Amino acid sequence: MGGGKARRDGGVGLTMFQTRITQLLGIKYPIIQGAMMWLSRAEMVAAVANAGGLGIMAALTFATAEELREEIGKAKSLTDKPFAVNITLLPTISPRSLDEYIATAIEEGVPIIETAGRNPRQYMKQLRDGGVKVMHKVASVKAARTAERIGVDAVTIVGFEEGGNPGMDDVTTMILVPRTVDALDIPVIAGGGIGDGRGLMAALALGAEGAVMGTRFMMSKESPLHPKIKQRLLEATEKDTLMIMRSINNPERVLTTGFARRILEMEEKGTTLEELLPMIDGRRQKKALDKGEVSEAIIPCGQGVGLISDLPTIKEIIDGIIREAGTIAKRLS
Ligand SMILES: Cc1cc2nc3c(=O)[nH]c(=O)nc-3n(C[C@H](O)[C@H](O)[C@H](O)COP(=O)(O)O)c2cc1C
Repeated sequence: MGGGKARRDGGVGLTMFQTRITQLLGIKYPIIQGAMMWLSRAEMVAAVANAGGLGIMAALTFATAEELREEIGKAKSLTDKPFAVNITLLPTISPRSLDEYIATAIEEGVPIIETAGRNPRQYMKQLRDGGVKVMHKVASVKAARTAERIGVDAVTIVGFEEGGNPGMDDVTTMILVPRTVDALDIPVIAGGGIGDGRGLMAALALGAEGAVMGTRFMMSKESPLHPKIKQRLLEATEKDTLMIMRSINNPERVLTTGFARRILEMEEKGTTLEELLPMIDGRRQKKALDKGEVSEAIIPCGQGVGLISDLPTIKEIIDGIIREAGTIAKRLS
């Protein structure tokens, strides 16, 4: 008896994985799948939920709030567990009415909304009135403090390593997480470079109560990323990412490709936003991700890509992380 449980968590029991974050979000493990534009759709989100973590759907993947509604319906047909919707507040080429997306998620009964990119102050009343739990993702201690002050329920802090938008300060996860934990009373989720049980344990040791992972879930069987790009990422090491778009105050960590280097060169020569826009256009990115055109668009990914050498199912990823974390806890105790 108990062998299965011992195998799943290394025999330490599940209590060390129960935190204010698992309680707040109603999840089994403190593992959160980072929202990923174009990729974190119903299948991925539901698979994470079914495996005991929190899946986050990237709302802006969908051209209209009605399309988001359909995708939420699809996720609900695939899981009865809670999941979240992410509203990214960064400037976009085709601005959309984000309050409509938020209203749709609330109407559909999504219990958790994550905001990211900019201060969500203007949406707080709508979120609070909607009765959802609010997570906000930031890349600095200052922004984390502001988020707590305006009343979010939890803050995700992401460091320099992360795939996506790690902010302008170039401070690593190792420093930002304890700094943020010390500065806040509400629970903190750590992100940036976390992709296995070692990373989860490190995050918990630094005082975080959950860990968000994007690049790891991007490289899962369920991820809709084209197989050619998955193969390219399997071959990539931790040295194969670079930061672009710093010149427009919107830095993004992406896979190093000829295309990404071209953007960097344009920025070094003092390019204008108008010249950059066609290169970073989301539709261009979607086409490239779908068709496997590695050199036709930017491919966001974190330094943690260097830790990834397989393409397991999401359940295998989460079970593996918990098993490894449990083994570490036992070794250290
Ligand atoms: C392909 C990709 C797309 C992403 N898109 C978004 C997004 O639309 N909104 C957002 O808030 N974060 C986005 N992120 C960031 C993730 O949600 C998460 O914070 C990050 O991946 C964590 O760092 P890691 O990649 O080192 O695990 C994206 C990350 C990746 C890799």
